[in-house]
Amino acid sequence: MTAASGSNRALVNSEFERAAATFGERTAGRFDRLDVVRFSRVKAEALVAEVGAGTGNFLALFAGIAARRVAVDLTEGMSRVARERDPTIEAVVADGAGLPLASRSIDLVASAQALHHIPDPLPVVKEMRRALAPGGHVLIMDQVAPERFEEALAMTELEVIRDPSHAVSRPPSALVMIVRAAGLEIVDRRMSESTDLLSKWMWPGEFPDERIDAVRSFVERRGDETGMGFEREGDDWTFTRRRFMVLAERAGPAGSAYS
Ligand SMILES: C[S@@+](CC[C@H](N)C(=O)[O-])C[C@H]1O[C@@H](n2cnc3c(N)ncnc32)[C@H](O)[C@@H]1O
Repeated sequence: MTAASGSNRALVNSEFERAAATFGERTAGRFDRLDVVRFSRVKAEALVAEVGAGTGNFLALFAGIAARRVAVDLTEGMSRVARERDPTIEAVVADGAGLPLASRSIDLVASAQALHHIPDPLPVVKEMRRALAPGGHVLIMDQVAPERFEEALAMTELEVIRDPSHAVSRPPSALVMIVRAAGLEIVDRRMSESTDLLSKWMWPGEFPDERIDAVRSFVERRGDETGMGFEREGDDWTFTRRRFMVLAERAGPAGSAYS
């Protein structure tokens, strides 16, 4: 099973092999104020896995709490950096639609900031559900688009210019639908907002100059259409990043078709 078509896989691999060395540094701390561990309801000594774990920033939140942390990622370079940054993380290269995890084995199966790179995320979320231990939770976090269709489209257009491996900017309602379609029941949800700087989002240490120019040009011409709240700040721009977190468990009574 594969969620990544050949072309999507090639885009993801080329983008994240290029970014692997700097990604962890650029995005360090972005989850620190989101109270993720408490939201996840994870218990001490739990087994935690993340799909699209990248360099391990999200799994780092569970250091000292989880007994094991498994980082699954499609890109070898990202997995290598995750291993280098924290050798206690078990980093495995695999597609999220074919998780190398035993059925019903993991207490918390998470995915942070990865679904927007996956054109068809349903097989991935179904795999997350398959790996879920009885009583465990699936946690999905992703940056989200406005519910207004035209804004979600414009945001996707901008994100693809910034990073060609970006597949879709989805609104919260789409994530809810995907989670439910995978046979999961939502037990908690949370939206958070932060103000980011364009110059940090398009960090020159990570992005080629021509891409930075193309993004700036889009923001100047059409930033208003994205619903991302772009505002000029001197030579820079600020914008609002919205992240949506959903916590879910297996739907349906034990013994039913869903269990
Ligand atoms: C934006 S990074 C997020 C990394 C990490 N979760 C974090 O938030 O710091 C997205 C990651 O998803 C991975 N990815 C994309 N498609 C995937 C797939 N189908 N299966 C597994 N990993 C995938 C990419 O290789 C990349 O490392």
